[in-house]
Amino acid sequence: MKETRAAETLRHRDRRREFVLSVCICFTFVAIFLLCVFLRVSASLRLPSPQLFSPPTSLTTFHHALRVNHMAEDAISQNKERFAQLFGSGDKLRTIRAPGRVNLIGEHTDYNDGFVFPMAIEPQVVVVCRSRKDEIVKVASTVFPNEFVEFSLQKKIERAKPAWGNYVRGVAAILMSAGIPLSGMDALICNSLPVGGGLSSSAAIEVSIAKSLLLLAGLSIENDRLALICQKAEQEYALVPCGIMDQMIVTAAKSGQAMLLDCRDFTKQYVPLEPKELRVVIVNSMVKHNLGDSEYVMRRRQCEEGVAILKREHPTIKALRDVTMKQVEAAKGRMSEIVYRRCRHVVAENLRAIEMAQKLLMQHYDEAGELMVKSHNSLRDDYEVSCPELDFLVEQTMKVKGIYGARMTGGGFGGSIVALARPRSVEALSEHLHKTYTAKFDRQPNVFVTTATAGASVLE
Ligand code: GLA
Repeated sequence: MKETRAAETLRHRDRRREFVLSVCICFTFVAIFLLCVFLRVSASLRLPSPQLFSPPTSLTTFHHALRVNHMAEDAISQNKERFAQLFGSGDKLRTIRAPGRVNLIGEHTDYNDGFVFPMAIEPQVVVVCRSRKDEIVKVASTVFPNEFVEFSLQKKIERAKPAWGNYVRGVAAILMSAGIPLSGMDALICNSLPVGGGLSSSAAIEVSIAKSLLLLAGLSIENDRLALICQKAEQEYALVPCGIMDQMIVTAAKSGQAMLLDCRDFTKQYVPLEPKELRVVIVNSMVKHNLGDSEYVMRRRQCEEGVAILKREHPTIKALRDVTMKQVEAAKGRMSEIVYRRCRHVVAENLRAIEMAQKLLMQHYDEAGELMVKSHNSLRDDYEVSCPELDFLVEQTMKVKGIYGARMTGGGFGGSIVALARPRSVEALSEHLHKTYTAKFDRQPNVFVTTATAGASVLE
């Protein structure tokens, strides 16, 4: 009897111990689960901060059939020969490069003080140059082989033909009016960027010319100032009222990284792009509708109109950057339907740009891709800057297996789309687009893969 009771007490104690043990295990699991939830939520709430970022991943080993030849060494030496034919022999030649750009998301937000998320690409502009003894600037271009742009730094620099020369004239004039003394230069602009491809060949020309003039004058200025000077040159000499995105990314890009730029205070946060998992594919539609410039001006005006209306209720609003979707909805009855849709695009696109940077930082590519498609739809329906060719390319791209997302990129009305793809799907994408786009529009698209490159620099 005594033995049975002792055995029972022992069993009882064992059961209690088992119970306590299982409660402890359960608690540990719940605690781990809660910790994971907490970490995930706090990560998704946090804006990427620069010190979190790892150094640029090595992209130099990446080779692909669709990779562009972005002006290799031999092409540069050919261009030096071409320079000698045009300008004769003389002192040592200097070479300066400036990349094109593709905007991953955040379209038509820069002139609303908002966020953009571009990266610099491999196609680029290379300027071969040499200083002159006089105060003359004489420039040729490989894209327009029979034309020269020539002007004196001692006289007021006016706009003139050919049109491409106004980027050169504008940069020299604005640098001088900022009190920066320049000296004469002979230069050849060599361009592997498609002109009119929506990949910012203008900003690449402005920045490379500005850097060349500064280098030959023995000067250098910091990136933000250089970007603002180039933007002013484009606005006043090419008469395009552009935002600041293109010049900023062309000057401040970092290799292997995209750049989240706050266009109000120019804060930059860099997000590494993981080359093992991700390809950035650009598809040039090879069309450029000439209404682009006037429509761009009109979009800017419509945004300003929206701000003026919203300001009446909320006087602290300075730009659409300061506006919430709730405020846009509340003001719907007080603005035209078009202005309402323009505001809705900009406010939503701003949020998407910040969110996409977070998604790429966390390597959540599917979600990043969804944001790109939403951005495209909004640019097509609300902002109305797309065109049938771009819509078709995005639609067809999304049909290919392994594509995370796609959207039109740049100002719109032609130019290019950008897609994020799994490495293995790039070939299939290129084939599919060549087949379907050519059948529908009777022209070949230009499909290429690019890594994220560094901003403008002096090569030699
Ligand atoms: C053009 C302009 C940029 C920007 C985009 C649209 O590329 O030059 O400043 O406004 O359009 O996002």
